[in-house]
Amino acid sequence: MADSYKLVDHVYDVVVVGAGGAGLRATLGLAQAGLATANITKVYPTRSHTVAAQGGISASLGNMGEDDWRWHMYDTVKGGDYLGDQDAIEYMTREAVPAVIELEHFGVPFSRTEEGRIYQRPFGGMTTHFGEGIAHRTCAAADRTGHAMLHALYQQSLKHNAEFYYEYFALDLLMEDGNCRGLIAWDLATGTLHRFLAQQTILATGGYGRAYFSCTSAHTCTGDGNGMVLRAGLPLQDMEFVQFHPTGIYGAGCLITEGVRGEGGYLTNSQGERFMERYAPHAKDLASRDVVSRAMTIEIREGRGVGADKDHILLNLQHLGPEVIHERLPGIAETARIFAGVDVLKQPIPVLPTVHYNMGGVPTNYQGEAMTLKDGNPDSVVPGLMAIGEAACVSVHGANRLGSNSLLDLVVFGRSAAWRCAQTVKPGNTSRAVPKAASDKVIARFDKLRHASGTEPTAEIRMRMQKLMQSDAAVFRTGKTLEEGRKRLKAVYDSFANVRVSDRSLIWNSDLAETLELANLLGCATATMAGAINRTESRGAHAREDYPERDDKNWMKHSLVWMDDHADVRIDYRPVHAYTLSKEIEPFPPKKRVY
Ligand code: FUM
Repeated sequence: MADSYKLVDHVYDVVVVGAGGAGLRATLGLAQAGLATANITKVYPTRSHTVAAQGGISASLGNMGEDDWRWHMYDTVKGGDYLGDQDAIEYMTREAVPAVIELEHFGVPFSRTEEGRIYQRPFGGMTTHFGEGIAHRTCAAADRTGHAMLHALYQQSLKHNAEFYYEYFALDLLMEDGNCRGLIAWDLATGTLHRFLAQQTILATGGYGRAYFSCTSAHTCTGDGNGMVLRAGLPLQDMEFVQFHPTGIYGAGCLITEGVRGEGGYLTNSQGERFMERYAPHAKDLASRDVVSRAMTIEIREGRGVGADKDHILLNLQHLGPEVIHERLPGIAETARIFAGVDVLKQPIPVLPTVHYNMGGVPTNYQGEAMTLKDGNPDSVVPGLMAIGEAACVSVHGANRLGSNSLLDLVVFGRSAAWRCAQTVKPGNTSRAVPKAASDKVIARFDKLRHASGTEPTAEIRMRMQKLMQSDAAVFRTGKTLEEGRKRLKAVYDSFANVRVSDRSLIWNSDLAETLELANLLGCATATMAGAINRTESRGAHAREDYPERDDKNWMKHSLVWMDDHADVRIDYRPVHAYTLSKEIEPFPPKKRVY
């Protein structure tokens, strides 16, 4: 059967999967380094989900007040509730400054101060003097920063003659004796299958927000790289940490940027009270996202939600006035009008915490190399495989990401992965020997799903998964809800064996593409649920009501989850890197969080 599909072969030095901010920054760096690089992307690059990032990218430029990368590092370690790897966090916060200036030189049209410098706004958890003051650290292009970055990076990649394979769906990695040799992808437009051989395969496939019912993520955020990694017999890390953004539009889920609160917007309950003053007297509405999302959930639970069902909260920005809104927040004014029917100059926006970001992913070091626990070595590099961006777990965000650290993560680690390849990859040296058994396995799986003739449509299975993830792996969790969720998810996983794909064609078969995506989502959801049941403490975005305290003695460690074809999981751990890269800063020991 494998032989009934014609495979088109390609040989490159490096293959990048995904053309969001991380994938494009890596592709550009690889092209600049003179490595033969293919970028394989499921959607046209400027449609990648980075386009939706609104508020900005953090860097301690100090354009609008004093700042220092050490303060940025402290905030990131603390914001991640001490689960982040401090060597990687040091790297990211130091490199933020040159990486953002480089973006400016690439042509990103940042908003400007009176003096013509890059405009920077306050964002949650970003402070000066190790928690004393409020930092203006988030560099913004109005409220369309991701859009501006994505276009500039794509244009630069084209300028450097990077090669793109547009609308190719990556099916699976080609693994041989524990080494990644490349991957097989399906060209959606022509229906042909393509085998890409490379010395390094870089996964930049984004998050898996679509495992949940309500999320700010695009429909394309289906954890494709993470699903491939699980099927390759490799682990995912810290998947229990799922970030809820406090201000998704009620009912629609669309993002309303934290930049609104950075510009002076605030949340109120049904009594008109600015309740964040009670939960975080110091940071108030600019506390980190886990804190604000929990506070909103408590307000609703205790009957102080707004609306007929008392089930949401209001975000007020009417007082900011037309000038600030038109100049700094034009995109959210439009989004609120379309998706909430609200004129933000006159009315508050109804909002609700909504799934926004996955802290977990493929474990990597700060150079983007994928890691696993092997022969007792928790930092064992997987030859030939790298991961960057939301698909990866570097881990700079620990248990909870600070707003505007994601766009930063994309460019800093996209760039460092390219630099690492420039050191390790020998141009023209990719082996052309084809890993036949691995290729046959990928094609057999593809063919089986293409001809799946069960009774359950993909959309129905997906909806069951999304609803149960939303209710059972939510902002607050207990052992009971998670165990219930685990059983229900296993039943959904098993029902996938009975999936029905109605369209058997190979050209633009969206039924089959969505089924392949669902398989990836089911793997991510299973790893999330298993990690959440296992971690009996509360840390960052993982709030266990039955274990309300952070437990550094037993849980200051990364969880690793492996999964087999039956959704049976194995869990092990990696120690947190509680050390820095340079002598310029000491590691931050854990301390109790005060807001
Ligand atoms: O609120 C926002 O603009 C989102 C930013 C982020 O997730 O980094």
